[in-house]
Amino acid sequence: MLSFDDVPLTTKQPPTSTSAAAATASGLDFTPPPMTQGAEISVTMVPGAGATGLEQISMSGHRVTVDEKRIINCRADLNQLVPFKYEWAWEKYLDACANHWMPQEISMSRDIALWKDPNGLTEDERMIIKRNLGFFSTADSLVANNLVLAIYRHITNPECRQYLLRQAFEEALHTHAYQYVVESLGIDEGEIFNMYREVPSIHAKDVFQLQFTQELADPNFHTGTPETDQRFLRNLIGYYIIMEGIFFYVGFVQMLSFGRQNKMTGASEQFQYIMRDESMHLNYGIDVINQIKIENPHLWTAEFQEEIQTLIKEGVELEYAYAVDTMPRGVLGLNAQMFSEYLRFVANRRCRQIGLTEQYPGAKNPFPWMSEMIDLKKEKNFFETRVIDYQTGGALSWD
Ligand SMILES: [Fe+2]
Ligand SMILES: [Fe+2]
Repeated sequence: MLSFDDVPLTTKQPPTSTSAAAATASGLDFTPPPMTQGAEISVTMVPGAGATGLEQISMSGHRVTVDEKRIINCRADLNQLVPFKYEWAWEKYLDACANHWMPQEISMSRDIALWKDPNGLTEDERMIIKRNLGFFSTADSLVANNLVLAIYRHITNPECRQYLLRQAFEEALHTHAYQYVVESLGIDEGEIFNMYREVPSIHAKDVFQLQFTQELADPNFHTGTPETDQRFLRNLIGYYIIMEGIFFYVGFVQMLSFGRQNKMTGASEQFQYIMRDESMHLNYGIDVINQIKIENPHLWTAEFQEEIQTLIKEGVELEYAYAVDTMPRGVLGLNAQMFSEYLRFVANRRCRQIGLTEQYPGAKNPFPWMSEMIDLKKEKNFFETRVIDYQTGGALSWD
């Protein structure tokens, strides 16, 4: 039977020379502890921590029951998908598969003509497009790294892991979409893919996010104590609520505004599909966060809530700096002041969604059309650039 307490599990430790190199190549800028070449490490379950799915398999293991399943610190076998405990995770996985799309299925021909026309767009408009491609191309990489290198091993539930696997693929599709737009328009890819190193407002957002990944990617990090479980929740909130729920929204408004003015309709539609995916990522994250709170109410202390609210307010400031940096002058009927109000409105909504007090009472939404698109209720066939009908049911539908 699967044993979690008394059978030490071992696995081969990679040699020192490769582990340092691997740490650098992970994109996390993380320095691992010194290790002895060829040594073996014990992966005995840490007291209080959950299963990983790598425990030894024996012929006498018992069948997992719903009551044993937990999102974090579960000690039952993680390799049995059913019976489902969290139907919402499985439903989101099915919905995500039904919404499948590929970047190259969207025509970029009108965008290419407009981009190459010297009088097609203003310099301010070109900067908005390039900076958003620059921010998002790295942001989706950071999110994907966080999923596979930080979150996944601490989520101890197979249906939630199933959604994470789908989400990770969608993040790859998003990075693919930015590469496809950059290549289609013939933009200098070095300029776009280095913006996170060269544009201060993008760098600041990425540094803010990376802290959450770094602490969980530490091989010595384990959930199972109130402190580490709060660190894990902090990561989920940092990525699902702040990155995918706040840091993406200036860019979404800007890129979708092009489409509303019948400009750069292909790039705009790429971002429309991405926003639909991201809306689901956010909703999944909210469900996971709230379920962890239900199962572990002791984690949601007043002090911890204050820490999270401080992070969300810091996120709002960073995103506002990004709004100013992408559009120092009003353009497309938008200006930085509108984003200040919008970000406060969005932050209030995010706080409500995870049971926190709103931080910006009375903030209004200056872009009501965004709510309509995010809620997927209206604006059917908003763009007319789609070149195929999806046989898998992945076409945008706002019903
Ligand atoms: Fe993404
Ligand atoms: Fe995402």
